[in-house]
Amino acid sequence: MSKNGTTIGLGIAGFGTVGAGVWNVLARNGGLISERAGGALKFEIRRIVVRDPEKVREAAAPADLFTTDWQSMVADPGVEVVVELIGGTDVAYELVAAALMAGKPVVTGNKALLAERGADLFELSRKHDVPIHFEAAVAGGIPIIKAVQESLVSNRIDSIAGIINGTSNYILMRMTEAELDYPDALKEAKELGYAELDETLDVNGWDAAHKAILLGTLAHGFPIDPEEVYVRGIEYVRPLDIRFAKNLGYVVKLLCIVREHEDGSIEIRTQPSFIPKTHILASVNDVFNAVAVRGDGVGDSLFYGRGAGQDPTASSVVADLVEAGRFLRQASEGGHRGFLPYREQGVIKPIDETETAYYVRFPVTDRPGVVADIASLLAGAGIGISGTHSPVDPDEPDAEFVDMVFLLHTCPFGTLKGALKKIEALDCVTERPVVFRIESL
Ligand SMILES: NC(=O)c1ccc[n+]([C@@H]2O[C@H](COP(=O)([O-])OP(=O)(O)OC[C@H]3O[C@@H](n4cnc5c(N)ncnc54)[C@H](OP(=O)(O)O)[C@@H]3O)[C@@H](O)[C@H]2O)c1
Repeated sequence: MSKNGTTIGLGIAGFGTVGAGVWNVLARNGGLISERAGGALKFEIRRIVVRDPEKVREAAAPADLFTTDWQSMVADPGVEVVVELIGGTDVAYELVAAALMAGKPVVTGNKALLAERGADLFELSRKHDVPIHFEAAVAGGIPIIKAVQESLVSNRIDSIAGIINGTSNYILMRMTEAELDYPDALKEAKELGYAELDETLDVNGWDAAHKAILLGTLAHGFPIDPEEVYVRGIEYVRPLDIRFAKNLGYVVKLLCIVREHEDGSIEIRTQPSFIPKTHILASVNDVFNAVAVRGDGVGDSLFYGRGAGQDPTASSVVADLVEAGRFLRQASEGGHRGFLPYREQGVIKPIDETETAYYVRFPVTDRPGVVADIASLLAGAGIGISGTHSPVDPDEPDAEFVDMVFLLHTCPFGTLKGALKKIEALDCVTERPVVFRIESL
């Protein structure tokens, strides 16, 4: 590998939305990027790995660069930095591991890969002293990785609260503003190209959870096991609860929380939650992302922008290329600036011990004493009630089945679950209660 030339050879695996975007950014702004790096760095894409080399592409790359053989791309001496943009956790893992073992810096946008198999890859990165950069993996164009890893390095990170899945955010916004139900809002998101053909990871919460795992890993220094993360998606959010939230002064957002507790344990969860209408995160709409970070020195800071899309994501990938290029040309002695875990093992707080206030909706048969029966079981569990709410349908003032909403004071989730089990057994409760956390951010 040449350490002295100014041109850095790149191999890109994946030439879809993001890969083609990287080509276009380098073509458009390559000169500017080079000038900003003191004239010392130029990038040249030398190999492109795809599944189908015959496909018509969004970027005008010469046909002779394309191959289906990722092993030969990684082994090519002209490829000094490997860019992984194929997605998935199998081939992508093999490819990234092979690049690191060959001593080649890696740039990736693959949150699933790093959240699921990052521990092994970070270990390879450490062992071979070669960086793996992943700015594009969290919140697309927002430079949140660099912020947490470098700009806020002097802070203990107390908490991170993020809206980091644009598809879910769009769907919840449409359910709130246009009062669409979930299937219609999803259909609209697909028609507008905001949701993938297979929307599973977006709506079941896991795309956001993967990103939260990466943020938690960076903020707290140890790889977080996805099995220890509590994840709920938006598929079960009903217009009824969105309407109640609105009336009570909240909005529903798919929220990721990473929080350090006094005992050193880390709370990490992703779920649709109520947040106060007045909180700044409540006004994050459309497919935008936002991450609120609270550090012990800096206090509160907010990072807002486009969390996906060709140009924003390519913007982050190319920023990482510059980092990787600097490592190769200037900083190859004395350690790299990729992520190095610094804690052997951290403790994830069990979800049952995490505490918030709650909104609980009980579908019930409307008979005298319902409220008292539920309230007495809540009181028996030591859970305080801050309000109750039972809207009467003007068309059906004597309806037999109604919804009773209880707003509950802060208590451990496990305590709430225990009480709900008993309440569900009451003959007046007709369906499972619906629970949302009320976040105090
Ligand atoms: N799209 C976004 O806004 C965005 C934002 C942040 C992060 N990311 C991440 O960036 C990565 C790429 O996303 P994308 O949207 O660009 O995906 P995409 O449009 O589906 O493109 C995937 C590319 O990878 C190639 N590919 C897939 N499997 C392959 C295999 N086994 N061997 C060789 N080539 C393979 C495909 O080849 P063919 O073209 O021949 O099929 C295609 O060129 C993902 O990890 C994604 O999570 C995307």
